[in-house]
Amino acid sequence: MTQATDAPRSRTNRARLAHKIRYAVRHPDRVRPYLRRAARDWKLWLTTRDHVAYYRAVMKADTAQNPAAAVGSASRERWLALGRMQFDYLVRHGLTPESRMLEIGCGNLRAGWRFIDYLDTGHYHGIDISPEILLAAGDTLAEHGLQHKLPHLSLVRDLRVRDVSSCPFRG
Ligand SMILES: C[S@@+](CC[C@H](N)C(=O)[O-])C[C@H]1O[C@@H](n2cnc3c(N)ncnc32)[C@H](O)[C@@H]1O
Repeated sequence: MTQATDAPRSRTNRARLAHKIRYAVRHPDRVRPYLRRAARDWKLWLTTRDHVAYYRAVMKADTAQNPAAAVGSASRERWLALGRMQFDYLVRHGLTPESRMLEIGCGNLRAGWRFIDYLDTGHYHGIDISPEILLAAGDTLAEHGLQHKLPHLSLVRDLRVRDVSSCPFRG
């Protein structure tokens, strides 16, 4: 699963309370949205049965607001830049059009649409636990006119391979 974020690399431990307090003092306007989101996440945590269900609920809420932000990009520009970065990295490291790709946690195809465009028809498989983000993935596909590349986009319950019956990566 890709875990790229838009945050620059830093040695700061952002989970530390001292860091959070310093950040709040420097950015008072962000305190209210942060607290609102934390409260929402707590509610989702308390009302979902496990981590995957919780993550799925968070993705549903975030995608309804903004699919780019739901996968970790603060703006359309950052969404495009992060996708480009992932694409360039894999091509530099040997991805060819003949390669077959399985993207676990494909989101709304931030990088996926570039891979679909580049790879041979039918060579891209994307799986995700969130129905909402997969609908957004369909929008990305249509936006770039890539339906003819026949990507396989599958909703999965978790990471058990029984969910991806048509996937050629199964053992
Ligand atoms: C940070 S986003 C990244 C999306 C995409 N790879 C990208 O770079 O834009 C992580 C994605 O992984 C999905 N995800 C989280 N846990 C998953 C799991 N166990 N199996 C499949 N997808 C998962 C989320 O729904 C979300 O769409």
